[in-house]
Amino acid sequence: MKTVLQKRKTEIQYRPVGQFEETRFEKIHNVIFSDSNEASIKVAEEIASLIRKKQEAQKHCVLGLATGSSPIRVYEELVRMHQEEGLSFSNVITFNLDEYLPMEKDNRQSYWYFMHEHLFNHIDIPKENINIPDGTIAGENVIDYCLAYEKAIKKVGGLDFQLLGIGRTGHIGFNEPGSHYNSGTRVITLDHITRVDAGPAFLGIANVPRKAITMGIATVMSAKRIILLGWGQNKADIIKKTVEGEISAQVPATYLQDHKNCTFVLDSGAGSELTRNKTPWLVDESLEWTENRTAKAIVWLCSETGKSILSLTDKDYNDNGMSGLLAAEDSYDLNIKMFNRLQHTITGWPGGKPNADDTSRPERAEPAKKRVIIFSPHPDDDVISMGGTFDRLVEQGHEVHVAYQTSGNIAVSDTDALRYAEISKRINPSEEAQTIIDSIKAKKESSFDTLPVRKLKGNIRRGESYAAVRYLGLEDANVHFLDLPFYETGTIKKDNLSEDDIEIMVSIINEVKPHQIYAAGDLADPHGTHKVCLDAVFEAMKRLKDEPFMEDCWLWLYRGAWHEWDINEIEMAVPMSPGQVLKKRNAIFCHQSQKDGVMFQGDDSREFWMRAEERNKDTAARYRALGLSDYAAMEAFVRYKFD
Ligand code: F6R
Repeated sequence: MKTVLQKRKTEIQYRPVGQFEETRFEKIHNVIFSDSNEASIKVAEEIASLIRKKQEAQKHCVLGLATGSSPIRVYEELVRMHQEEGLSFSNVITFNLDEYLPMEKDNRQSYWYFMHEHLFNHIDIPKENINIPDGTIAGENVIDYCLAYEKAIKKVGGLDFQLLGIGRTGHIGFNEPGSHYNSGTRVITLDHITRVDAGPAFLGIANVPRKAITMGIATVMSAKRIILLGWGQNKADIIKKTVEGEISAQVPATYLQDHKNCTFVLDSGAGSELTRNKTPWLVDESLEWTENRTAKAIVWLCSETGKSILSLTDKDYNDNGMSGLLAAEDSYDLNIKMFNRLQHTITGWPGGKPNADDTSRPERAEPAKKRVIIFSPHPDDDVISMGGTFDRLVEQGHEVHVAYQTSGNIAVSDTDALRYAEISKRINPSEEAQTIIDSIKAKKESSFDTLPVRKLKGNIRRGESYAAVRYLGLEDANVHFLDLPFYETGTIKKDNLSEDDIEIMVSIINEVKPHQIYAAGDLADPHGTHKVCLDAVFEAMKRLKDEPFMEDCWLWLYRGAWHEWDINEIEMAVPMSPGQVLKKRNAIFCHQSQKDGVMFQGDDSREFWMRAEERNKDTAARYRALGLSDYAAMEAFVRYKFD
């Protein structure tokens, strides 16, 4: 895939604002890596080097630590360094940023549990050197407790290093909007968005505590060195506000603009909204105008000027930092080229149009009947994300297979499961049905589903998937439930991909020998399951790359429920008529357990069918605004090409 991302960085050493080459828009030093894994390793190296330096000087190393998804890989790497390279933590004293209130240590959602599971249980840090705010502290003792926490930090000489994540509210620690610059460790009421984000881990927002103890802004700012980690597109907006916006209590992380030694370490998703990435022509006059960047800039120019492509003038280009483009061509040629590029992405024949000249079509005409696998991470992404295209592929006579990568069992509510178990018991009063009923009824807030309950939930989703794809005319024999093992933990936290997962993927691709594979390229999925499922597709395809059928196998990426491709990225846009929009809606409706109050709603209160429909309509509206044909809705795809 052609990525439109920024140059790669390989080191994260701090350079004070004004001395780094980035842009006049940025007020916090930041380093963007193409991938969060590599970035995490660099951060771990910086921490390790600080620990060693302090060891040589026979001093303590005082670390402020964060929890959440962002630092997990950093901790993994520190553990690896301890186990394989002998990095010792015997001189390390840690202070964690925060803890929910109330919260027992042994609750799986506690930050105490998190820190021990991810770091402390695997290194040689003396237990007495670990400080994590106590979530069991009773009401009247809290103030003294918080003051004592502050004192303890000062007593050991202050924080040498503070690791941070950032919440979508702009919180650091749990310093939510409204936090004062001078705030110290205290009790805080969590913002609604923070509770929504934590909801899945607690199996529902109602179970997320309303309060927390957090280090204050002043506590964090007192650290000698700060690194904030930001991964994924979900963080892109808040990162832009923090790095480029004005300092404001409404975005507490902006206080970091005043810190003398703070670096944001980002991946390309989190850095994607920064001006230098989003609209680099506004910050760099000597910019190289690649084909993709040109396309991106022209789409942006249309939205800035409110014009369609063919109406853009030389003046529009000049006035908006794009004069460099006019050096080789005038606006007329640029406009026509861009118009044609977009025009050529539109096709009602996603499997290729038989007997047609395909030189400027997104798909090959031959073979006229293709074998197709649609990989769907959860049992509904297929119809949500590409229901219209799915329908056309079947209608146009291709051999379509759908492969559901995970069981999706965790997203079925207990109420639904109980209803099905009771129906089953009424028809056939079995012991198994009764066990399921009993265990659902006995389930506590933080306990996991038993295996039989998970099986039932998975089967509910299977039934719904069959209903949806039968409605689109697919034979049952072409429906595959892969139940990849990495997903089957019974919790939100999933395992890493294993050989077993990859073997299952390899075997289905090998069996079908597809000409087309569709997969979810949606990296903004809040639980990361889509990303893991995509990694599984990549790995399986890599392993099969020498098979002759793979030469003819194209991979098309669709986006799931959370995000759409940018117009300039789209390589195939499949239009839908108003009738097809309704058909797609009905197919999505078959997934009844995911309707009316789904368990993992994310921060968007619309149901999945509404999101999909609005997104598809929006894509069509954007094409229309750029001066292309007027369709009711469109599904969009990007072709992924392996190096
Ligand atoms: C965690 C903390 C929070 C998180 C933030 C981001 O100790 O204080 O500020 O860093 O909510 O969480 P993730 O990393 O899960 O996106």
